[in-house]
Amino acid sequence: MTTQKVRKAVFPVAGLGTRLLPATKSMPKEMLTLVDRPLIQHVVEEAKEAGIEQFIFVTSSGKTMIEEHFDRQHHLIHTLERRGKNDLLEIVLGSEIPTGHLHTTRQHTPLGLGHAVWCAKELIGNEPFAVILPDEMVLSKPGCLKQLMNVYNEKGGNVLAMMNVPKEKVSRYGILDIDPLEGRLAKINAMVEKPEPEDAPSTYSITGRYILQPEIFEILENLEGGANGEIQLTDGMAELLKEQSFYGCLFQGKRYDCGNKFGFIEANLAFSLARDDMHDEVYAMLKSFVKTDVLLS
Ligand code: UTP
Repeated sequence: MTTQKVRKAVFPVAGLGTRLLPATKSMPKEMLTLVDRPLIQHVVEEAKEAGIEQFIFVTSSGKTMIEEHFDRQHHLIHTLERRGKNDLLEIVLGSEIPTGHLHTTRQHTPLGLGHAVWCAKELIGNEPFAVILPDEMVLSKPGCLKQLMNVYNEKGGNVLAMMNVPKEKVSRYGILDIDPLEGRLAKINAMVEKPEPEDAPSTYSITGRYILQPEIFEILENLEGGANGEIQLTDGMAELLKEQSFYGCLFQGKRYDCGNKFGFIEANLAFSLARDDMHDEVYAMLKSFVKTDVLLS
C-alpha cells in the first residue's frame, strides 16, 4: 500500500502542568529532567528516530525555554571547543533541532488537547502527521512512534498507540472498542474519553502517540467541550472514525506518566536503570534504600 509520508510531528506543550506544582510554576513541565535531558528532548529524539523532519510545538506564554533548548548556543559551543571538550560538544550539538525545522504556534488558553492539536492546522496543511505527548514517556526499542510508523506504512489511515490498563483505572483514559487483536494490531471500532468502568468497551487505552490524517482539523474546529469541559482529541477522532480507518498498535515497551509525581519518579528510575553507564550504581542505590526501609520498619 502506498501511503503519504509522515514528515511532521506536533508536540502539545501549552498545558499548565498543575499536578507537578510548584515545580511547574515558572518551569515548563516538558523541560523537567528525565535522567539527564528534558522530557521534551526524549520525545524529539523518538520522533527523529521515526523519520520526522519538521517539529511543531504548540506553546503558550512562559514556555519559550523549550525553543531555546533546541537552538544553537554559540557561547557554550565556543567555550567547549576552546576547552577541547569534544564529548560534551557532541551532546550539545546532538540536542539541536536543525535550523528551519522547528516551528511554533500558540494556544492562548489551555482549552484541551483537541484544541492544542487544532492550533497546528496551518503548519500541518494537507498531510498526515504525528502527535506526541511529551509527558508520556515510553521506554522501548525501537521507539513507540517508530513502531506506529511501521504499522502506518503497512496499513495507512490513522494509527494510535494503545496499552492495556487495569479496569478500575479506565476513567483516566481514552478507551477503545477494538476487533480481536492480530498480533499487536487491532482495528478500532469506537472510542470514548474517560468512561466509567461499567461503561468502558474494553481496557485498552489510547496512549500519547498518534498518527492522524489532516481531516481531523475540520472536525476539531467544530467540536464542543467534552469530558472535563475540554475539547478532547478523542472526541474528534471518534468523529473521524465514521469516515476513516483507525488501527491500534499494542506497542512493545512500557509507558510512564511523567505528568504526576509518582510516574515521574518511576520513569527516572526505569530510564536510568536501562542505561549501561548508570544501571549498577542506581541498582545499588535502590537496594540500599530497600534495606534501610526494612530496618526502619
Ligand atoms: P495534560 O492532560 O497532562 O495537562 O496534557 P497539563 O495541563 O499539562 O497537566 P495537569 O493536568 O494540569 O497537571 C498532556 C499534554 O498536552 C498538553 C500539555 O502541555 C501536555 O504536554 N496540553 C494539554 C496542551 O498543550 N494544551 C491543553 O489545553 C492541554
